[in-house]
Amino acid sequence: MLFIVVWWMVAIMGAFSDPQANRLIHSGCSKVKVESVTESTKYLNDTLLDLRAQLNSSKYFATAQQAGAAGKVFGMVQCRKYLSTADCVACFDIAAKQIRRNCSADVTGGRIYYDGCFLRYEDSGFFDQNWDAHYGDCGNQTASPAYQASVESLLSDLQIASPKMPGFFATSKKEVVAKNSVVYGVAQCVETISKTGCQECLTVAYGDLQTCLLSSANTDGRSINPACFFRYSDTPFFADNQTTDLKPFLRNGKLSFSRLLVFY
Ligand SMILES: *[C@@H]1O[C@H](CO)[C@@H](O)[C@H](O)[C@H]1NC(C)=O
Ligand SMILES: *[C@@H]1O[C@H](CO)[C@@H](O)[C@H](O)[C@H]1NC(C)=O
Ligand SMILES: *[C@@H]1O[C@H](CO)[C@@H](O)[C@H](O)[C@H]1NC(C)=O
Ligand SMILES: *[C@@H]1O[C@H](CO)[C@@H](O)[C@H](O)[C@H]1NC(C)=O
Ligand SMILES: *[C@@H]1O[C@H](CO)[C@@H](O)[C@H](O)[C@H]1NC(C)=O
Repeated sequence: MLFIVVWWMVAIMGAFSDPQANRLIHSGCSKVKVESVTESTKYLNDTLLDLRAQLNSSKYFATAQQAGAAGKVFGMVQCRKYLSTADCVACFDIAAKQIRRNCSADVTGGRIYYDGCFLRYEDSGFFDQNWDAHYGDCGNQTASPAYQASVESLLSDLQIASPKMPGFFATSKKEVVAKNSVVYGVAQCVETISKTGCQECLTVAYGDLQTCLLSSANTDGRSINPACFFRYSDTPFFADNQTTDLKPFLRNGKLSFSRLLVFY
């Protein structure tokens, strides 16, 4: 019995000591050529070193920039806050390697998205950019109506709460009534936009997830946007103690109403 418990704990912990960068969800490269490959590579290298040092000092979101006679490089990285610092840095390392592999040294920008983190660089400022292409990425397992109902409520909570949270980050989970299953979700915005910008971004992302959930009836969905990330799944992807307490942030919602009914 003890053996089984230990094995189970190792399996669970193992699942969470993971940079979550094994599947490339989205990538893209600029088509614009740089003025000088040598100079631009130097700016990019310095920007990436700066970003990595910031993550290694326990940050989960970082921007950096370099400028010189041959142009500029602006870089941004964000890890999901449920990762450990070591996993966040590991995710960044995989992303930095992949972005060089995907985007040739003579182009002005690139972006790489994993579940655990994203990395992006451009030759002009984009830190407060909200409107750009967005991508939905749905799973391939069929969701039941009870599951869909739980996801609806989970997504709506996360959409309301995340813009109010420090670091624009929240995780949550909900049980699926009578199905003995649980749905897990995360919403996170970049920290260089406003609260309103975060709300607007999550509204667009919510639309992508509705497509996964209702039109395609999938148990998994992700939405990737320049300023936010929104995901749900029936597979746990963060540790239990990384679940955010959303109650204080849902005061205007259904929750406070049902609380009133309980207390009065
Ligand atoms: C980036 O690399 C991955 C894996 O090698 C590949 O699947 C993807 O199509 C590439 N994307 C671009 C934009 O080059
Ligand atoms: C930039 O970094 C890459 C990968 O680490 C390395 O191969 C290259 O020599 C560096 N270039 C410059 C100009 O620093
Ligand atoms: C990362 O942080 C650790 C512990 O704080 C430190 O020992 C290490 O030198 C740092 N690495 C880099 C590349 O900054
Ligand atoms: C569903 O997707 C997973 C990975 O995303 C893959 O390993 C699996 O083979 C797919 N299953 C089907 C039935 O397509
Ligand atoms: C969460 O739990 C893991 C494993 O039990 C532990 O290593 C970690 O320090 C905990 N984190 C927090 C924030 O309590």
